[in-house]
Amino acid sequence: MVAQAGYHTIGVNSITPHIGAEISGVDLSQPLANEQFSEVYQAWLDWKVLVFRDQQLSGEQHKAFARRFGALHVHPMQHSYGGDPEILRVRTTKDSRYTAGNGWHTDVSCDEFPPLGSMLYMKETPECGGGDTLFADMYLAYDLLSDRFKAMLDGLVAVHDGAIPYLGSYQVAPPNGSTYPRHEHPLVCTHPETGKKILYVNSGFTSHIKDLAPTESRAILQMLYQHIAQTPRLICRVQWEPNTLTFWDNRCTQHHAVWDYYPHSRYGERVSIVGTQRPAA
Ligand code: SIN
Repeated sequence: MVAQAGYHTIGVNSITPHIGAEISGVDLSQPLANEQFSEVYQAWLDWKVLVFRDQQLSGEQHKAFARRFGALHVHPMQHSYGGDPEILRVRTTKDSRYTAGNGWHTDVSCDEFPPLGSMLYMKETPECGGGDTLFADMYLAYDLLSDRFKAMLDGLVAVHDGAIPYLGSYQVAPPNGSTYPRHEHPLVCTHPETGKKILYVNSGFTSHIKDLAPTESRAILQMLYQHIAQTPRLICRVQWEPNTLTFWDNRCTQHHAVWDYYPHSRYGERVSIVGTQRPAA
């Protein structure tokens, strides 16, 4: 890890040269003073994935920290979890049919206003080790494409459908005869705060690219998914300990929870923040 200069009220140690940083000197159970909050905010924009160790948080304290960034999100599958609608419980045991997020995805990109960020607070890690989460930098994923290919992607729109993971993989019916969210977003978006371009399709939610023949759409999406999965330099790996909170910018990253600890258990609680703008080119 490399200590980053320029922060005065927090410590920032980067995990890779462009994505992921461990943050020290912050107690998330207390309201952050404005200057410290501004530095955390800037570090989040700079490093995309922030890791806070040794935090002792109640559900209310977790939500209070998240609320500093915006309104809290209620997950479309919340009806199947019960409990506090603003806390998504991510529990995997030997009896689980699936573990949430076990594939590359952006959280809830099927929403019209997908979460701008998510905070996962890990409470129990597997006894055998493992259970890490991989995060990929979607600015770099875009930048690494050739100019000719970028020009071809420009202006394309993709459909993101919640039925793919929630009904297809998790087999949870939507509540009361409703349907899961399904929305269109540009395939290349611009981050609303940094102004940088992002590759915005993910294998968890994207069903197809509009206005292309099915074979064309499938081929381009497969190529982009391979680009993400097979380019190690895009990725940072977060190794969890109990009481670690990781906060990712959901607008410019994808993540993948690694289920390598069967039959052991892992438990965390996720709070997400509603995006304030639709993803836009
Ligand atoms: C998720 O938010 O997709 C779950 C991530 C994880 O459990 O590591």
